[in-house]
Amino acid sequence: MKASFSPASIKVDGFTFRKAVREDAKQITLVEKNAQPAPWSEAVFVNEFDVKVSNIWVCLSGDKIVAFIVFWVVADEVHILNVAVHDDARRKGIATAFIRQLQSESERSFKTVLSLEVRASNDAAQTLYAGLGFNKIAHREAYYADNGEDAIILACIIEEPTLGSDTL
Ligand SMILES: CC(C)(COP(=O)(O)OP(=O)(O)OC[C@H]1O[C@@H](n2cnc3c(N)ncnc32)[C@H](O)[C@@H]1OP(=O)(O)O)[C@@H](O)C(=O)NCCC(=O)NCCS
Repeated sequence: MKASFSPASIKVDGFTFRKAVREDAKQITLVEKNAQPAPWSEAVFVNEFDVKVSNIWVCLSGDKIVAFIVFWVVADEVHILNVAVHDDARRKGIATAFIRQLQSESERSFKTVLSLEVRASNDAAQTLYAGLGFNKIAHREAYYADNGEDAIILACIIEEPTLGSDTL
């Protein structure tokens, strides 16, 4: 069964958020091609819907998908595999909103860590993650097959939810 993580309460002016369905794969792939140097194919996204631990959330402007995030929930860890925002919709807080929601859903479900890999040259994403409490935990040389670029592994420790005094 999929984790019960939900994007339903994310609020960014002018955009709506929901879990993706298989029929979204084509539009997600268009965003991916706009955003990533070595984009996943549509088949890769379609396959994610059959991966038990995988979750995809999308952000829409009207009925057009402008951003998405793919993450796996495995035991008490959450790993972000892909996040992309179409360049028409950047710097509006969409990626921040996705990750903040993932952090609060992770806390609510007693997960301990959020992790991801980022290209060493991707300053925009590294600035984003640094502002959201991620720290460098490792450096993998020649990690990316398309250009031999290094990866930085980042992690964010999830705080345990605080118990109210009435629960003690
Ligand atoms: C990285 C990416 C996901 C950011 O998405 P976004 O929705 O535009 O990010 P946000 O609006 O939430 O930005 C939050 C903060 O991150 C930092 N940031 C985001 N993009 C930045 C850029 N191009 N340059 C410098 N800082 C940037 C800023 O501090 C920004 O806050 P500010 O706008 O108030 O200055 C988006 O640029 C993207 O899709 N890039 C291509 C794909 C990619 O790199 N994915 C991540 C792979 S790990």
